Formats: sequence, C-alpha cells, structure tokens
Amino acid sequence: MQKILVVDDAEVNREILCNMLKNDYIVEMAQDGEEALYKLEKCHKETAALLLDLQMPKLDGFGVIAHMQKNGWIDRVPILIISGERAVEVENQCFQLGVSDFIHKPFEASIVKNRVRNTIEMFNRKNQLEIRLEEQSKIIRLQEARLGRLEPFNKMMIEYSSAIMEVETRLKVLNAMFSEEYKRNPFESIKSRLKKTDSIYKKLERKGYPVTIENIREYVVDVAGLRVICSFPDDIYRLAGLLIRQDDIILLKEKDYIKSPKSNGYRSLHLILSVPVFLPNEKKYIKAEVQFRTIAMDFWASLEHKLRYKKDINNTEEIEQQLKACADSIEALDYQMQEIRNKIDHPAETALGGNT
Ligand code: GTP
Ligand code: MG
Repeated sequence: MQKILVVDDAEVNREILCNMLKNDYIVEMAQDGEEALYKLEKCHKETAALLLDLQMPKLDGFGVIAHMQKNGWIDRVPILIISGERAVEVENQCFQLGVSDFIHKPFEASIVKNRVRNTIEMFNRKNQLEIRLEEQSKIIRLQEARLGRLEPFNKMMIEYSSAIMEVETRLKVLNAMFSEEYKRNPFESIKSRLKKTDSIYKKLERKGYPVTIENIREYVVDVAGLRVICSFPDDIYRLAGLLIRQDDIILLKEKDYIKSPKSNGYRSLHLILSVPVFLPNEKKYIKAEVQFRTIAMDFWASLEHKLRYKKDINNTEEIEQQLKACADSIEALDYQMQEIRNKIDHPAETALGGNT
C-alpha cells in the first residue's frame, strides 16, 4: 500500500479523512505545517500524496508549499488542498503554486477517494513520461554526436579495410612466388575482419580513453585484423620475416606467443604493423594486426575462444587443464610434422626442400 500524508489542525478532519482512506493507503497524519515538513523530510520519497489544509497554526498550507518548492519535493509529491476556503482567487493561487487538486470541505467519501486515486495515478504517469522523454532525448543527443563524426569515422574505416587489402595482397604475392619456387604454399588461408564499431568503442572504454577518431587510431591496434594460417611453424617465421622486410612496412610491435606461449597454452605470432595505404590525395600509414599460427594452433584457439565466452560452464578448471595439455601436444605434433616434411624435402640441401 502507498503512503499518504494528511495535514490538518482539526483532529476531527484528520479522523474523517483517515477513515475514508485507510483501506486503500497507509495514512500518516500531521497537525500543522511544521510537523508536515518534519515528516516529509524523512519520507517524501515514499509519500504518494499530500492532503494539505490551508489555515493552520505555526506554519500554514502556503508555507508548506513554499518549503516543498524550495526542497524540490513538489515534483515528487502531488498536493491536494483540503479546505473550507471558497474564494476563487485562493483556489487559483493554489493551482498556480503547483498543487494538483483542491477538495472542499465538508468531505464526501467517494469524491475524496476518487480524487486522491486520480491525482496519484496522473502524477505517476506524468513522472514516467518525463523519465521516458529524458531517456529518448539522451539517445537523440548521443545519435547526433555520433552522426556528427560519422563521415570521418566511415572514412577511417575505409582506410582500415584498405590496410587489410594491402597486407592481404602482399601475403598473396609472397605465397604465389614461394609456391612457384618451392612447389608448396607457405600458408593455407588468410582470414580477415574489420573490428565492429561497438567492439572498438568497448575496447577504448576498457582502456580508459574517450571515444574519438584520434584515440581509435592511436590505441586500438586491431581495427584491421588478419589471421594467416600456416602448415608449419617455420613457414610462420619465414613469411612474417619476408613481410616485415618490405621497405615500406613498419613493424610497431611483435608478440611472439610461439616462443613464449601464454599460460593457457595459446601460441601465435602477433605483428602490429603500420602499412601504407594509397588514398586519392595522399599516402597514409594505417595500423593492422596480423596473427600467424599453424592449422593446429588455430583449431585450438577457436575452441579455447569458445570456452572464454561461455558463461555457463561448471568444470572450467578441468577444461583449462585439458586445453593446456592439448596445446602442448599440438606444439610437439607441429614440430614432428615439420621434421617429416624436411625429410621428404631433402633436408640436406635446404630446410624448404631440395627440388630447386
Ligand atoms: P586484446 O585486448 O584481446 O586485443 O589483447 P591485447 O591487446 O593484450 O593483445 P594480444 O596480442 O594478447 O591479443 C590480441 C588478440 O589475440 C586477441 O584479441 C585474440 O584474438 C588473440 N588472443 C590473444 N590471447 C588469446 C588466447 O589466450 N586465446 C585465444 N583464443 N585468442 C587469444
Ligand atoms: Mg587485440
């Protein structure tokens, strides 16, 4: 049940109103304006309506309204004046001050109940509407802000996809030359992806930077992401080396999780590159993340990635241990396969094969 506060200096009036309303509400009472303010101070948040007499000792109804305005409670608690006052000016004055309704004495039970109920409902609806309006205008402001930087953002994303194409082309050229010379491909496949807008935002927020074009360029190094899947570990280093050696590619960072695997067993070679992209009026250097791994390491990483994002797994620890053991077996297997390939390819001449 909702709580209402009845403020009247005449005990008989308080009793009458209390009897009319006590089945539907928890009825609190105060016998003058001061007591009303004291009670409101403590529980204005839980008070659904205030029934307020005008003429009272100590502090009258107008005094109470003035205090409520000053404290901002008038927006939270609807006021119904209960008064014998018949003068139209007084009633109008009350409405001008922001009261919701005016009930004349003597009281008629059904009228009082209906008006109290209606006032509370209307007030709640008005408040909910205001909250919804505020939420909607917040969304509109956000969209406007995003729209304002949409064009530069889209241009930047085109630059990143161009960087992906650039790196992909260079790798494909290396693959073609390599396979012509050695009769096999150094990589099996390339996967690429442009980071999604909300993932970019989330990453920046996680790193504690405001979302700006400049911060994306500076701090999100994997907007352009490529994954190169090789058959053998030595192909990874050979291919990565050939790519870095190209005179217009800048290696910003290398993380070698093959030589130093992560504690969970993750193995891959990560390069953060800065690559030139030729735009209509300029040449621009754009960052790209290239991950190199073997087929087996990739198989492992996909499964491990699933575990990471699954929330409802119970025996996580056991699975983690099994995954770690698999990662170690995969490493052994990768090098065993590489050895076999070397034997097949005449290891005495070159590690790549002797059929040149
Ligand atoms: P992110 O914030 O995730 O980009 O990590 P980071 O900036 O510290 O760089 P890091 O080189 O460690 O990881 C870059 C990317 O490599 C990740 O976004 C993943 O795609 C992949 N990666 C890194 N560690 C793991 C791992 O333990 N398991 C799997 N499946 N993928 C990983
Ligand atoms: Mg990353």
